[in-house]
Amino acid sequence: MVRSFRVAPGGALSGALRVPGDKSISHRSVMLGAIAEGVTEVAGFLEGADAISTMEIFRALGVRIDGPSAGRVTVHGVGLHGLRAPARPLDCGNAGTAMRLLMGLLAGQRFESTLVGDESLSKRPMRRVAEPLAAMGARIETRDGCPPVRILPVDTLRGIRYRMPMASAQVKSALLLAGLYAQGETTVIEPAPTRDHTERMLGGFGVAVARHGAEVTLRGGQPLRAAAIDVPADISSAAFFLVGASIAPGSDLVLEHVGMNPTRTGILEILRLMGADIEVRNEREAGGEPVADLRVRAAALRGIEVPPGLVPLAIDEFPALFVAAACAQGRTVVTGAAELRVKESDRIAVMADGLRALGVDATPTPDGMVIEGRGNRGAVFASGAVEAHGDHRIAMSFAVAALRAAGDVTVRDTANVATSFPGFEALAHSAGLRIESRERA
Ligand code: S3P
Repeated sequence: MVRSFRVAPGGALSGALRVPGDKSISHRSVMLGAIAEGVTEVAGFLEGADAISTMEIFRALGVRIDGPSAGRVTVHGVGLHGLRAPARPLDCGNAGTAMRLLMGLLAGQRFESTLVGDESLSKRPMRRVAEPLAAMGARIETRDGCPPVRILPVDTLRGIRYRMPMASAQVKSALLLAGLYAQGETTVIEPAPTRDHTERMLGGFGVAVARHGAEVTLRGGQPLRAAAIDVPADISSAAFFLVGASIAPGSDLVLEHVGMNPTRTGILEILRLMGADIEVRNEREAGGEPVADLRVRAAALRGIEVPPGLVPLAIDEFPALFVAAACAQGRTVVTGAAELRVKESDRIAVMADGLRALGVDATPTPDGMVIEGRGNRGAVFASGAVEAHGDHRIAMSFAVAALRAAGDVTVRDTANVATSFPGFEALAHSAGLRIESRERA
């Protein structure tokens, strides 16, 4: 079955809505809850395929998990050493976060396990995690650096001090989770700040994690104590609406309870540099994470050179930002974003192809893109069809592009939208996007 979106042109986004729960925090809530002592109650859990994969994997590792039901999940923790050998390979589906973090968590276990994934995940690089884990004493086999990943039992790991060659929260998190099972201290040094949910949440579970500048350190053997987790709405899912409302004249939209962790808000800073009108309201804290409501209104955007320092803080939002750039006055240049080439798809190549198919002058570069904005008035995108290549964020980005198209936009291969944003079509439709979902054999 192939799913696609057909989106009629024009319209504006309005009203108030809450997008689903944060994917990064949802994965971690199950992982940390599972190895904690006691019962962890999660609210606002993302009931998308990625986080569900993580849940199923921990069930296969012997953890009792109730839910999800209306965003509520209960994880009956088994403690650091309570996981059991799985009977089958553990299927991470499309979820790179599940696979990489699990590599770290499983590396220190006394049983063997194998991690597998779907077609997209099976092409993604795992050496970035396998190599530093091997330096900790883990025994990990990959197929030419890609999944499946086989993790052999070890007695113990040893802490290391590791300077990451790329800014990756998944690599950092994998090493910190392995560090829980290691003798001595594990230190990870980041070349640039990346999302810090693992460190924050470990703190919430009672683990002492020290941060000195770019270094994060924890000592092995510390037990986790169950905690209540309130998952905020995912700013990465809000991004499609932030861009959609910015580019569609007449839009005035409120996004509620959005996670505002400063390692995730690069999208707001970049859109503001482009001239977006985003008001942050009701700033508060929920479960150790800052949250706020965001009011976004249509604005005249201008092209910018995106500061490379903001790239890791908005890494998942570039597909949407490329659409915003096409609707801006002047040229936008993105550099320092080579990591986009190893996401759920090669997001530089796939976005450039799609933008060009819709008549936009977009030039891919090894580490970014140059986009000639077509201005703030009238249609920007030609009517046409684009391929999402099974990448959820590509699919949703081109769906909102239709707000400024001259005719219908068809987006093919959209089933994976459900990995991060179940119910996207209905929510977007209720806000004013003229979207329709189709399925054919
Ligand atoms: C994530 C980290 C990022 C991000 C991904 C989620 C996480 O990946 O792209 O969607 O939850 O740690 P990298 O660590 O590969 O940058």
